[in-house]
Amino acid sequence: MNEKIAIYPGSFDPLTNGHLDILARALKIFDKIIVAVAATELKKPLFSIAERLKMIKTATLNLKNVEAESFSGLLVDYALQKKANALIRGLRAVSDFEYEFQMALMNRHLAKHSKNQNHVETVYLMPDEKYTYLSSTLVKEVVRLGGDAKNFVPKFIELALIKKFKSSHAKIYL
Ligand code: PNS
Repeated sequence: MNEKIAIYPGSFDPLTNGHLDILARALKIFDKIIVAVAATELKKPLFSIAERLKMIKTATLNLKNVEAESFSGLLVDYALQKKANALIRGLRAVSDFEYEFQMALMNRHLAKHSKNQNHVETVYLMPDEKYTYLSSTLVKEVVRLGGDAKNFVPKFIELALIKKFKSSHAKIYL
């Protein structure tokens, strides 16, 4: 039987407990999940691709069947190249829906019109309700302003955030 491979794409700047919750759910459905960090993005990230990949690899060290890679170009091309038949996305609230709906339909269109016309379906998973208000952007804001992020990200990522903001403060104020 064919291995069921899914791509879990995103910015992961940084990975949060919400992402890990989605990943654990996806692992119950798929044989292999590739966490794919988008290298070509419009947002200016806090962490480099290498830093984000290292964080994902460290946080998923004891999860079997999880890989982490970066990709550039179109997500569907990457998914087809990896022989994946699904894209995983987390859906936290209704506010996520419009963007996700557009993205899913655009990706479906792109996959259908690609050279090998493979089928890639987007699968949405809901995180535990305690993560519905959690986002990488908010975690960065909380830590930047001296708040406690221990319930939102693994400890080593909280420390990496604190370090990053300390060094950027030093650059601004020195
Ligand atoms: O975590 P994010 O920032 O919401 O993830 C968005 C991401 C990386 C999944 C999306 O921007 C993406 O797929 N980028 C790759 C380029 C691409 O294929 N764009 C067309 C998607 S409709």
